[in-house]
Amino acid sequence: MIKKELIQLIENRRARVAVIGLGYVGLPLATEFAGRGFQATGFEVDEKKVAEINAGRSYIGDVAAESIKQAVDAGRLRATIDFSELTDCDAIIICVPTPLRKTKEPDVSFILAAAEEIQKHCVAVN
Ligand SMILES: NC(=O)c1ccc[n+]([C@@H]2O[C@H](COP(=O)([O-])OP(=O)(O)OC[C@H]3O[C@@H](n4cnc5c(N)ncnc54)[C@H](O)[C@@H]3O)[C@@H](O)[C@H]2O)c1
Repeated sequence: MIKKELIQLIENRRARVAVIGLGYVGLPLATEFAGRGFQATGFEVDEKKVAEINAGRSYIGDVAAESIKQAVDAGRLRATIDFSELTDCDAIIICVPTPLRKTKEPDVSFILAAAEEIQKHCVAVN
């Protein structure tokens, strides 16, 4: 049932998309969703990046400031450090760093931190 509802929300472009981590992957992704008519919210730990996006500016060369400004002005893109807003989102995409350790194993601590925020705000505990 939930799956069917989610598919409908996506098809109607009414799904509210969360992107956690607004770097080289997350910022273009969130901007693209907003440009396609979705409501996109970026969740960041870096307040400076949040301020830049909400001011309609870009800090990634591949993402035109104009695209961000248009999406922000249209009310379809915004960024926040307040992870409690995850509660209002229908789909969540994690785009945080996964640097390699000296052992060449990926450091998944950023993913775990993002997952903890999702658990805190979106997972009901009985
Ligand atoms: N950049 C690429 O070309 C590329 C290509 C393929 C795969 N990837 C993968 O995509 C993922 C993201 O890479 P990237 O290049 O966008 O990284 P990035 O370092 O450019 O951006 C990551 C962003 O996540 C933010 N962040 C860190 N911890 C956070 C948290 N707990 N909550 C919210 N935001 C947090 C950082 O402040 C940063 O802005 C990585 O797994 C990477 O391996 C990247």
